[in-house]
Amino acid sequence: MFFLSFMQNKKIILALTGSSGAGYGLRLLYHLAKQPVEIHAIVSPVYFRILKQELNLISTPASLLADMSAFYSLPEGDVKCQLRFFPHGDIGCEPASGSARYDAMAIVPCSMKTLAGIAHGYTTNLIERAADVSLKERRPLVLVPRETPYSLIHLENMRLLTLAGAVIMPASPGFYRRPVTMTDLYDFMADRILGHLGFHQRTIDPWQGDD
Ligand SMILES: Cc1cc2nc3c(=O)[nH]c(=O)nc-3n(C[C@H](O)[C@H](O)[C@H](O)COP(=O)(O)O)c2cc1C
Repeated sequence: MFFLSFMQNKKIILALTGSSGAGYGLRLLYHLAKQPVEIHAIVSPVYFRILKQELNLISTPASLLADMSAFYSLPEGDVKCQLRFFPHGDIGCEPASGSARYDAMAIVPCSMKTLAGIAHGYTTNLIERAADVSLKERRPLVLVPRETPYSLIHLENMRLLTLAGAVIMPASPGFYRRPVTMTDLYDFMADRILGHLGFHQRTIDPWQGDD
């Protein structure tokens, strides 16, 4: 029994919200899709609006995996994940329940509005509720906000979330690897996020130090 549960694939919640940096979420999905992982995805309607604005990609929950695969030329045979979407407004389905088992949850990108809702336990949709549950169940929760500058309210909300056990990973990729494309920037963040979600296989070469 222990052996069987040890062998189970990871099961994570991936949430995408309406912040600039939609590509960070899309590229994280690309890396996750190549893993034998069960993904329960929840997408805010504003995410799709910003995806269109920033990457000129028109998508829906039903087509996101196919659209992402086409966008990044990911062959169908390389998709190893099981992806299931849950309605953003349905606060009564699996990710909303503390009795459901997940290994981790990531919100990429995470708007300051969603971050505020989670910081104050004020859950108005399935993303906020699932994150609230992650905190109360003491499961890893990674939030990737994108805003500048931060107000005191943003900083206080991030402080609260850090105290509650969440990991705040601002969309602040490093430049010491000399990124050339936007994908290089997304990949930097995806590699760091995946580490915090418990995926130990690197998606970029480990840093060997400067020249
Ligand atoms: C084009 C566009 C860009 C936005 N960029 C940001 C952003 O970078 N950070 C942020 O916190 N909110 C941003 N917002 C505002 C959020 O989308 C807004 O607060 C929304 O209510 C978030 O809802 P959600 O978290 O449920 O998706 C942006 C909105 C639009 C339309």
